[in-house]
Amino acid sequence: MKLLFYAAKIYDKKSFDPELENYPGVEIDYIEYELDSRTAALAKGYEAVCAFVSADVGAQTLEVFKECGVKYVLMRCAGFNNVDTEKAKELGIIVKRVPGYSPESVAELAMGLALAVNRRLYKAYNKVRENDYTLRGLRGVNFFEKTAGIVGTGKIGAAMARICRGFGMKVIAYDVYENPSLKDFVEYVTFDELLEKSDLISLHCPLMDSTYHMINLESIKKMKDEVILVNTSRGGLIDTQELIEGIRLNKFLGVGLDVYEEETGNVYMDRSDEIMEHSVTSRLLSFPNVLITSHQGFYTKEALAAIAQTTLQNLKDAEAGIRNDNDVA
Ligand code: NAI
Repeated sequence: MKLLFYAAKIYDKKSFDPELENYPGVEIDYIEYELDSRTAALAKGYEAVCAFVSADVGAQTLEVFKECGVKYVLMRCAGFNNVDTEKAKELGIIVKRVPGYSPESVAELAMGLALAVNRRLYKAYNKVRENDYTLRGLRGVNFFEKTAGIVGTGKIGAAMARICRGFGMKVIAYDVYENPSLKDFVEYVTFDELLEKSDLISLHCPLMDSTYHMINLESIKKMKDEVILVNTSRGGLIDTQELIEGIRLNKFLGVGLDVYEEETGNVYMDRSDEIMEHSVTSRLLSFPNVLITSHQGFYTKEALAAIAQTTLQNLKDAEAGIRNDNDVA
């Protein structure tokens, strides 16, 4: 079975190649090109392709795949908002993903972002490097005995809830389903109540029509003053323009984003020599209380190994006609 691996980085090869010995018969060709409707044609002669969060797996891409004979699309990530699942079903292309790889890798980054914006660690690091030992601009708050509001208590949200409990925080949550494993210490509330009561709000629900721009000026106005907002889920959960308005209203002690609306053209690219015109990301970065990382929640040794293992198992299952919870189409 030949697998074409889009948008490959050195670390992908390092995590997938060792795993191949458990999957004899699978041969991977790694290419650096991102997957979209133009690069889809490169998959001619491959039965399977592997793609990541910034790929465009829309209707056009899938139609090209169908013409090329691609049967399986393996998403090496949890989110699949970039896949036209209805089109894939219509064309009979099987799409699988990796729903749960080391949820702690993302949850620990979420808490890292919360701590970093709270105590302005990025500023403190630069100040001391510049021989500036003053504390101006670095004042934070204790997390101990504050309220953490977790939006979406699936695998990652649950891990974040446990971390917040470890910090001595009261943990409240909003989800369309309650997670029974959290019943001992998490109180489920309405979304509005979560906005009103939380000192730290962390987003962990998928991007869907019902969650698109769930953080907007209206919801921001319901939040406490000096709230900390963290998003490690998907950029589209937050209306960036309205977040900027909220920041200007002095609503936030800090905002930590591992994902953001404009990331598709940026993630894993070095654009340091470019002038970013009309970029809301640049606008966000102009605020002292905003920290942005480039979609690195999954980037731990443990998570990468789990992604490689599950992706190759997904291919084996797809070939064997096994349908399971990893299927999105
Ligand atoms: P999961 O499927 O285990 O949990 C998602 C939770 O969101 C579920 O409990 C679900 O009921 C809930 N939910 C669905 N609709 C909702 C709504 N309207 N309001 C509130 N909650 C709602 O997913 P998991 O593994 O916890 O991942 C969460 C998200 O994290 C993924 O969708 C993905 O976008 C993102 N992610 C980000 C990574 C990164 O590198 N930054 C890596 C992996 C995932």
